[in-house]
Amino acid sequence: MSAAPNYSYSSLANMGPQGRWRRVLFIALIPTLCAFVYYAYGSSYLPSTFKPSQYPYQHNVSLPADDVSMSTVIKALYGPILHPVDAANFTDEDGDTHHLPGEPRFKERLGKRVLVLDIDSRPLTGDGQLMNQELKWKGMRPLSAGMLSHYMYAMIHGYDYKFIRAPDYTDRWGTWVKVPMMKEALKTHDYIVFMDSDVMFHYPHLPLEWLLNYWNMTQDTLAMMSIDPDEPQNYDAKGNRYLNTGFVIAQQSKRTQEMYKAWAECPSENRYTGCSRWKLDWAHEQAAFGNYIRYDFDRPDDIRVLPCVEANGAPEAVNRGGCKGIFVRHFWVDKGLLSKGLADSVMQYFLPRLHQLYHQTASEHIVDAKGYRLKGAELIEMTPEEQEQLKKDQGKNQKDEGF
Ligand SMILES: *[C@@H]1O[C@H](CO)[C@@H](O)[C@H](O)[C@H]1NC(C)=O
Ligand SMILES: *[C@@H]1O[C@H](CO)[C@@H](O)[C@H](O)[C@H]1NC(C)=O
Ligand SMILES: *[C@@H]1O[C@H](CO)[C@@H](O)[C@H](O)[C@H]1NC(C)=O
Repeated sequence: MSAAPNYSYSSLANMGPQGRWRRVLFIALIPTLCAFVYYAYGSSYLPSTFKPSQYPYQHNVSLPADDVSMSTVIKALYGPILHPVDAANFTDEDGDTHHLPGEPRFKERLGKRVLVLDIDSRPLTGDGQLMNQELKWKGMRPLSAGMLSHYMYAMIHGYDYKFIRAPDYTDRWGTWVKVPMMKEALKTHDYIVFMDSDVMFHYPHLPLEWLLNYWNMTQDTLAMMSIDPDEPQNYDAKGNRYLNTGFVIAQQSKRTQEMYKAWAECPSENRYTGCSRWKLDWAHEQAAFGNYIRYDFDRPDDIRVLPCVEANGAPEAVNRGGCKGIFVRHFWVDKGLLSKGLADSVMQYFLPRLHQLYHQTASEHIVDAKGYRLKGAELIEMTPEEQEQLKKDQGKNQKDEGF
């Protein structure tokens, strides 16, 4: 047995004070965490045979069907940092600050008056798809990520969420079904947010109410949609750019019902000559809206056109007319980026918390051996003179994050 060293590791664990002040923050978070209420969403849209999935798969462990820990995790992660619905500004991850244009209309949370809506007529039961019994991160199909992010967004803010299994039109392209389904949803909710499954909010902690203030949703606004990029295929017969129907915020009103009725009935040509073409031709219901409906519902406040840079595209599409999706990302450039988008919407919040915890508990795991010098296999406590010298030589045999 070798001789005991003449220092003790417990002295190495005497950390500076940086671990301690953060503990105060941490303690403040605990009651917030405990205060979260679990509310389950109706499962009537899922097959009745749906079982709680096994987690992790290879370990054959099932959580009890009534386990609430996941909704607690979500609330604990986002609850403390929700952006106020009537905040005067919002600073994004690039440090750009976006200011409300004026006095906010929405000062209270809308809660269940808002419906976040997914609509699909496909079964989506294949491997990696949302309605499959099992879903793993690896091999998850892009649209599952999109729809799960919608569900999570609703959960974070206490909005309603529904996935509607839509019937198909026998004679129209599949995406047409979203028109009558949105119309139905506007009978039960004051505001609906419909997103294609390749669309997601980039900042899940930023409430819809804030965006409604920012984008100036007035009493008379029927719907808000983003303009498409300035590219030839995105122009209607009159030479105006299409509005993208992959992201729609609509407000309940009699006139909104009329607009959706006109839209859904457009191909019958009772009102709009030539519209039947868009039953099957691209861009389907979007072209019907662009070529006819918006010219019929054209009071100044009827349709709010959102800038492409804010509500369309993704950073990878910035060279497509600057559509980088500041608030709402639409991954038409590369659907493969959807799961990364979902990861971003968790990690941008998870990471600071993990980092915070790392420092809160620093005194338990950061060992300061800088007061020692190395000699062969030995650590030898330095004299004050040696420590002075060390400061002068700092970084000599290191490089930034290098090896
Ligand atoms: C998984 O667990 C269930 C219930 O405990 C058991 O019936 C089943 O055989 C297990 N499956 C595997 C692959 O171990
Ligand atoms: C954002 O608004 C807050 C008040 O709500 C204000 O204190 C702050 O200075 C504003 N930030 C910017 C960058 O304008
Ligand atoms: C919002 O829209 C209304 C109606 O178009 C307009 O009168 C008002 O000035 C707008 N508000 C802001 C802050 O832009």
